[in-house]
Formats: sequence, C-alpha cells, structure tokens
Amino acid sequence: MRTPHVSDLTFETHAHPARRTSAERAALMENPGFGKVFTDHMVVARYSAGRGWHDARIQAREPIPLDPAAAVLHYAQEIFEGLKAYRTADGGAALFRADANARRFRQSAERMAMAPFPENAFVEAMHKLVQIDRDWIPDTPDGSLYLRPFMIANEAFLGVKPASEYLFVTIASAVGSYFKDPTGTVTVWISEHFTRAAPGGTGAAKCGGNYAASLAAQAEAARQGCEQVVFLDAAERRYIEELGGMNVFFVFADGTLQTPPLSDSILPGITRDSVITLAREAGLTVKEEPYTVDSWRADVRAGRLTEAFACGTAAVITPIGTVKGREDNFTIGDAVAGPVARRLRGMLVDLQRGTTKDSRGWFQKVF
Ligand code: PLP
Ligand code: COI
Repeated sequence: MRTPHVSDLTFETHAHPARRTSAERAALMENPGFGKVFTDHMVVARYSAGRGWHDARIQAREPIPLDPAAAVLHYAQEIFEGLKAYRTADGGAALFRADANARRFRQSAERMAMAPFPENAFVEAMHKLVQIDRDWIPDTPDGSLYLRPFMIANEAFLGVKPASEYLFVTIASAVGSYFKDPTGTVTVWISEHFTRAAPGGTGAAKCGGNYAASLAAQAEAARQGCEQVVFLDAAERRYIEELGGMNVFFVFADGTLQTPPLSDSILPGITRDSVITLAREAGLTVKEEPYTVDSWRADVRAGRLTEAFACGTAAVITPIGTVKGREDNFTIGDAVAGPVARRLRGMLVDLQRGTTKDSRGWFQKVF
C-alpha cells in the first residue's frame, strides 16, 4: 500500500568518476572542524505534483542548478535534518535513530506545506550515502560523518503558494567536534531582545528560516564572547526555550533533571529524547517543565542548581559554564563539565558507537 510515509522509490547509483585520492582525503580529514570537509557524493531526488517523488540517485557531489525564480530563493520553503554516521570498533559504521530524523523531516515538511519525503526512502538514502562515502567517516573519538538532508522548493513561480516541485538532497561532511574545546564548557548569551520562534510559528520545524531568524542574536552573543544563544519565550521573555542549535537541560543538587517542555516553538531534539530516556533508565528524575531565567540565576546563586548542558546531534552533550545577560553574568559551579553531564554523555556516545548493547533499535548498523 502507498502512503506518504512509505514508498517504493529506488536510488540509482552513479559513482563519482574521479573520487579524491586517499592522500587528498587524509589531508582534508586531519583537522576537519565542523561542516567544512565534504565527501565525493550526494543524494538527489525530485518531486513534482504530477509524478510524485522520482529520479532518486546517488551521484557525484556538484552544484545545484536553480532557476532564479525558484520559490526557495524568495519565500524560503526549505527544511533540513542533521544526523551522524559513527565508526564502530569493528571498522564498520552505524547510524543513530535515523528513523526519528526521517519522521521529523516529514513533520517539518508538513508544517512548511512541502511534499513529505517518504520515511523509508529517507533512511535508505542515508545508508546508501554512508556506504558509498565510507572512507570519509573519521575514526577519531570525536569524529563522525555528519549527514545533512535538505529539501527546497524549486518551482519557478513568484506567486505565494506551496510549490508544486521540490528537490531532496543529502550531502555529507567529515566532522570533528562542533565546539573548539570538546572537553570544556560553553559560555551562553541570554537573548532578551531577539526571540527565535513564537506560538503558532515554525519553531518546532527544522526549517532554514528559524536559523536565519537566530543569526542576529548569535552575532550579538559572539560580540559578548559567547558561543551560543539562549532563547526565551516570545510572549513573556521569561521562560527558557532552547539554544540556537541545541536543546537545554538543568541539573539540580538533589539529582533531578529538568528541560523545557516541547511546544510549537521548540525543536523536538532526538538527543533531548535520548537523554530523557537514558536518564530515566538510570534512575534519575527528569521533569519536562517550564523554567524561567530568573529561577536559573537564583538557583545557581543558592547552590540549588549544579549543572546545565546543551544537547544536540552536532553538540552531543556540552556543559554550560558561564551565562551572560544584559544585566549580569553567572557561573555554574567552577565552569567545568559536571558529573551528570559527563555520565550521560558517556552513555549516549557508547550507544552511538555500539560499545554498549542497544535494546531499543537506536543503533543501526550500515555495514
Ligand atoms: N534545537 C535546535 C534549534 C537544533 O538546531 C537542534 C539540532 O538539530 C536541536 C535542538 C537538537 O536536535 P537533535 O538532538 O535532533 O540534533
Ligand atoms: C544539528 O545538531 O544537527 C544541527 O542542526 C545544529 C547546528 C548547530 C549544526
């Protein structure tokens, strides 16, 4: 049976005629940073209202020809995902919860009035790209192959309406850690002026527009010497929502964890969901409840809050050391990685790399 979630779309492989040599690859991968070193191939598929999804292929990575009237260039109908393939101890590779990314990609498409990409085809595309670009998966402890699926409206038409043509693409990037110091903490800036998402808006969708809207705040943070922005709710500017590209958790002295509840203005992070599951299984209490920035400040000063950390595919689990705002700054503990963040990070990374046994179907072997 055909549903929008499942299709019989098949990918033809047209391998790159001149892949980079192993010496070229090694030089590029020596110190890859994040999102700068790209592999030899990409996935492409096309959608038109008449034909549905078709022409799915793995091919040489190359520029995308676009009509200057393509809807994405004018009205920003664009969504994306981010997931990683990890090197396993046996020299193979695995994905982590790729089915959850496929589902969120479909939900993002629905929110942006785009054609949903079939979930089974999404997962297959990830497997095929990891297989063909397997030599680009770093084998360093912090390294992985970051996959970036995205979809754009490429119908050439200037009327404002959902487009009738879309392009699905996935590129891959050999990455190290997202932040410069993978063992350290990050400093965050509380954005009191700019907000990221509002009730009824697109905050829960992974669309490029949300990130465009976050950049002025990110630039303000950088001017204050901060790596990330903490966004507050748009209505009252009191409740903590999430960071520019990560969800956030708080750890209290009694061992309880707390994270803002999901809403239509927060991205439902797959790492967030994994952390909640792992923490609860480890016997910790996790509350999904609103938390104000005033409580954060007061709880740190009173010693009630001992840790805070950011989490996401790119960030994994990154502890927050110092919090800066317009009025004052405060530091959590001694601004070093705390024991709860370290423990949860270890549990997560061991599952992603297959060094602990997975009973939930999260660890998905590619080869
Ligand atoms: N919040 C935002 C705004 C993000 O960009 C991301 C990263 O994808 C996350 C949260 C964390 O999501 P995930 O854990 O699925 O990577
Ligand atoms: C990810 O973690 O995949 C994101 O999209 C966030 C961004 C900071 C790279």
